[in-house]
Amino acid sequence: MAMEIESRGLAPMQANDTARTIGLIGSKGGVGTTLLASSLAWALAERGLRVVLLDLDTHGGQAALHLCERNAGPTLRDVLQVIDRLDDTLLDTLLTPCSPRLRLLPAPRQWLGPAVEAAPEPQHLLRLVHTAATLADCVVLDLPARAAVEKAFAAVLVDLDRLELISEPSLPATFNARRSWHWLQTLRAEGHEGRDAACHVVLNQVHRHQALDSAQVWRTLGLEDRGAAFGRELPRSDEAVAQAIYQGQALGALQPRDALSRAVARWAEEVEGAFKPKPAAAAHADSRALAQATPSAGWRERLIRWAT
Ligand SMILES: Nc1ncnc2c1ncn2[C@@H]1O[C@H](COP(=O)(O)OP(=O)(O)O)[C@@H](O)[C@H]1O
Ligand SMILES: [Mg+2]
Repeated sequence: MAMEIESRGLAPMQANDTARTIGLIGSKGGVGTTLLASSLAWALAERGLRVVLLDLDTHGGQAALHLCERNAGPTLRDVLQVIDRLDDTLLDTLLTPCSPRLRLLPAPRQWLGPAVEAAPEPQHLLRLVHTAATLADCVVLDLPARAAVEKAFAAVLVDLDRLELISEPSLPATFNARRSWHWLQTLRAEGHEGRDAACHVVLNQVHRHQALDSAQVWRTLGLEDRGAAFGRELPRSDEAVAQAIYQGQALGALQPRDALSRAVARWAEEVEGAFKPKPAAAAHADSRALAQATPSAGWRERLIRWAT
């Protein structure tokens, strides 16, 4: 595999322990998590970062479809079979190159039934993420919506540097988003014990005729005053997305000027900026800005009142 990578002119991945991890999880299925995880991973790689995308949707992962279906190699199932001896050298041989700095671990292509496909162990998923982190500058996780409530994913959800809850402006998605948003924040706040447990909401498929006004969504999530700090909106872009999927190419590669591609590029820029260690002088100014953006006690109380 190493020779194959070199012969394609792809950058070799080397051990690196400053990798950052970012997970994307949907408020429900079909809100665009996989499209966005693939697009964000591609955009981060275009910015010069070495990226590993892990498709952790064991039942129906489709990240490969968005990036490199034709040459998708070993899958999550293969990796879990050797998890006890997984290290950076072994994982390095199992990842599928998608672009010069982006590599993918696709989800299994078939579902073999519950007798064969036991839920992964929490510590196994954690080991996979940590091993991937030694091979890249950034690890992106495409998580299934059910990961919010499945024990197997809890440790990973807490461990990630950053978590993005993806939703869309519809009533069912918003209802679920409200539930997941509260739960994920609680889970991560406990796990991070006061450290920054960066958690954001991405409202995807925003368009003129949407069922629910975006402002209503932010209000429902209790984020109406703090949208900029906690949320972002991404446009719906039917034609460009359909073309990219049918050609098995990243949206940004095929349609760089498309509104969604540009919005994802800005998102990648922000993610990279947030991951970079800050110089000491800037850190002080930033911490003041952050204090202003941090949710007030009132905001937390409202959230807790709603949930209890
Ligand atoms: N912003 C968008 N514009 C147009 N189509 C989108 C957008 N986001 C997602 N889609 C489409 O919606 C469908 C579901 O997206 P997918 O990423 O598979 O969702 P999930 O992973 O949350 O189940 C796909 O056909 C995808 O291409
Ligand atoms: Mg998906």
